[in-house]
Amino acid sequence: MNHPVKRIGVLTSGGDAPGMNAAIRAVVRGCLYRGIECVGIRRGYNGLINGDILRMDAGTVTHIINRGGTILYTARSDEFRTPEGQQRAAATCKLLGLDGIVAIGGDGTFRGAEALAKTGVSVVGVPATIDNDIVCTDYTIGFDTASNTAVDAIDRLRDTMQSHERCSVVEVMGRNAGHLALYVGLAVGATAVLMPEMPMDFDRDVVEKIRRARLAGKTHFMIVVAEGAGSAMEIGDKIHQELGLDPRVTILGHIQRGGTPTARDRVMATRMGYTAVEVLLAGKTNRVVCSQHGSMVDVDIEEGLSMKKGLNQEQCDALEAMTGL
Ligand code: F6P
Repeated sequence: MNHPVKRIGVLTSGGDAPGMNAAIRAVVRGCLYRGIECVGIRRGYNGLINGDILRMDAGTVTHIINRGGTILYTARSDEFRTPEGQQRAAATCKLLGLDGIVAIGGDGTFRGAEALAKTGVSVVGVPATIDNDIVCTDYTIGFDTASNTAVDAIDRLRDTMQSHERCSVVEVMGRNAGHLALYVGLAVGATAVLMPEMPMDFDRDVVEKIRRARLAGKTHFMIVVAEGAGSAMEIGDKIHQELGLDPRVTILGHIQRGGTPTARDRVMATRMGYTAVEVLLAGKTNRVVCSQHGSMVDVDIEEGLSMKKGLNQEQCDALEAMTGL
């Protein structure tokens, strides 16, 4: 792309994540700093298809750095998955004179960005999902806030589980990935953590760990289950059958996606949003902004999504040691 960038569009797509607003703000302020216009596109790729836009300036992003959710709304667009939808979105970009798009979201958002880039529109992705499952980046916006929300909820559960000497089974989000469950499990000192990346052997991974904890003098137990690892209700039932305990099951659900973003999420979102504008200004397209070893880099979207992100091995080793007594 050789012509100068004068106007950029920004959208949020897929499941929301705390810190998305901080990323929108960073894109808008990054554009203003560079003397270019920024347009907000509402409701993800649907907004691009339908021309559902909002002119952005410093006023429209004031007081949003601290707010969860996304002021631009979000959606998963079925129409955009079709070639016709993608052509309509590209036509809107042309009509609106958009020289580039910043797409904030997770892997589905980046697949969309890739498709849009193929139509000739310059696109850069910013990773925002509580799942932290994008392989090319060490971090995705929202993970820290979601982890802290889950930890806070589990700490509260622990109080009552301890009083009643009960077992708690808590399901956390993460879709097909266990990053959130692993991190939260470490943070709460779980008795056991079940993750989709590690095929479960119920006797070894649950029964044995509870038995050992009992032998060590524990009278309450905390089992963290990633939603992709199986049904928390079924695991609770099995614990009842095999160990005679009377577990209480809690599914944390969308609570994990809301709330005030932590300082880490605000700072990562600000750095990533700012970098996305710089990447577009450098004439690049089909890129995703990534945090790698503490620095911001940009990588090809295809390359960035090419593999499933493995669990952090050092965290897994620590968990094994902490739950293996
Ligand atoms: O990808 C983020 C996420 O919260 C996953 O952890 C979860 O599986 C999914 O979105 C839930 O999606 P929805 O909001 O459509 O129920």
